[in-house]
Amino acid sequence: MSWNCATRTVRRERGNVKRSITIRLVLMFALAALVTFSLIGAALYGVLVRELIRHQNDDLNLNLQNLRYSIEHVGIAERWTRVQAKMDTLTPSDGRLRFWVLSDDPRFQYGKGLDRIEGMSQEADGHGTILLPPNGQMLRTLSLRIEPYEDRPAVRLIVGVDVAPLEHTLHAFLTALVLLLLSAVLVVMLLGYWIAHLGLQPLKQLSKEAQGLRPQTLSQRLHTENLPVELSDLAVAFNGALGRLQAAYQQLEAFNADVAHELRTPLANLIGGTQVALSRQRTAPQFQEVLQSNLEELDRLRSIINDMLFLARADQGEAATGLTEACVAREVNKTIEFFEFVLDDKGITVAVQGELSAQAAINIPLFRRALSNLLQNAIEHSAAGACLVVEIRNQAEAVWIRVSNPGVRIAATHLPRLFDRFYRVDASRHDEGLHHGHGLGLAIVKAVASMHGGSVAAISVDGVTTIAFSVPSLEAAFEAVAHST
Ligand SMILES: Nc1ncnc2c1ncn2[C@@H]1O[C@H](COP(=O)(O)OP(=O)(O)O)[C@@H](O)[C@H]1O
Ligand SMILES: [Mg+2]
Repeated sequence: MSWNCATRTVRRERGNVKRSITIRLVLMFALAALVTFSLIGAALYGVLVRELIRHQNDDLNLNLQNLRYSIEHVGIAERWTRVQAKMDTLTPSDGRLRFWVLSDDPRFQYGKGLDRIEGMSQEADGHGTILLPPNGQMLRTLSLRIEPYEDRPAVRLIVGVDVAPLEHTLHAFLTALVLLLLSAVLVVMLLGYWIAHLGLQPLKQLSKEAQGLRPQTLSQRLHTENLPVELSDLAVAFNGALGRLQAAYQQLEAFNADVAHELRTPLANLIGGTQVALSRQRTAPQFQEVLQSNLEELDRLRSIINDMLFLARADQGEAATGLTEACVAREVNKTIEFFEFVLDDKGITVAVQGELSAQAAINIPLFRRALSNLLQNAIEHSAAGACLVVEIRNQAEAVWIRVSNPGVRIAATHLPRLFDRFYRVDASRHDEGLHHGHGLGLAIVKAVASMHGGSVAAISVDGVTTIAFSVPSLEAAFEAVAHST
């Protein structure tokens, strides 16, 4: 026998018995069948009891009326013998039907063991029961008083019928009913198992398909065409999750390739520079120059790695800590001061406009890092003598910082991807070494914004490119704190 581990059902996991839908369905079917058949059985049993008793009562009544007619006009002891003979003929040999006539006059009596009758009960309508000794035979009785006539005093006529045959019938019926009920429940359980097995077939198919999915086949999707409605929703949701997973996986793969590519250039520069330096005799100043250039490349490597570590932390949902109430315009001006020399070099001016009194709850170093990245891009993408604008706007519980610069318009297709890691509109500029960034600047702006609970935006119209990020305004930050406490 061969065991297929992949398709074997694991029934226990961390000490818990796994619940089987099939077994639950079978038990539910069995319970439903038990309740239904029990109710039907109880109703049938009730009808049978009622009918059998009615039949016995009819029998008693018929015999009682028949004898009453014979006794009523008997007034002398000589004619009583004919009545006795009639009752003898009517009494069957098995004792199933019995007659008694009780009277004060011993000449007008009938029936044996009257003095030994025990447990006789009598109801108002004449019905009753008698327990006959010596073996405790139980009879259902019907009695009637017959008025005196001529010589005969008043007599009581009693007809009794044995209840044992009725009880036997009921007992046999009940036994058959219970056996039928158990067999029916068993059949329903077997049918239920088969139905559940058939009904769950699409689920098994789905699970088999899902088991076949591998990172190499992430483009595959579960087939939803022939699935029942209940499962097709699940399969569609699963396919949606697969799609998102595939996109994330592809992004990760592309990111890995980008990282490798990004690290390769400075490394190649380092190796190339060092090899050239070592290829012949060098003076100390020449080696110093090579080491200086190597240091620049190593710096670049360190900066890429630091940026990537920062983005990885932001990816894990790290929020900005050490939030301070800050005047946004003040922080903007302080950041611009760092660019003083570059701005002077290129003859570029920066105007800070908008709501200069806006306040926000920010982590100041992170805020400056994001704004520096935007300013760096704006300076890099504007011609000498241009005028940059930093606009501060307090909008719907957020303070927006928008950096605009005149320059080449960015096509709309690129705008949504500007904040992706290593995404560059013009890759050739980078390859030609005209560019100093390593494609993570805007990704870091987005990470800083989201660490503050803000967002980013980019627009490029009429030769002006505006890239913006937001941080929560002071009021919004206060409200958030009030809600959380
Ligand atoms: N102000 C801007 N004007 C035009 N293009 C821009 C501007 N800012 C960013 N970009 C485009 O977005 C890309 C991504 O920017 P960024 O993430 O800072 O990376 P990097 O500056 O290292 O290329 C840049 O390569 C550039 O093509
Ligand atoms: Mg940049």
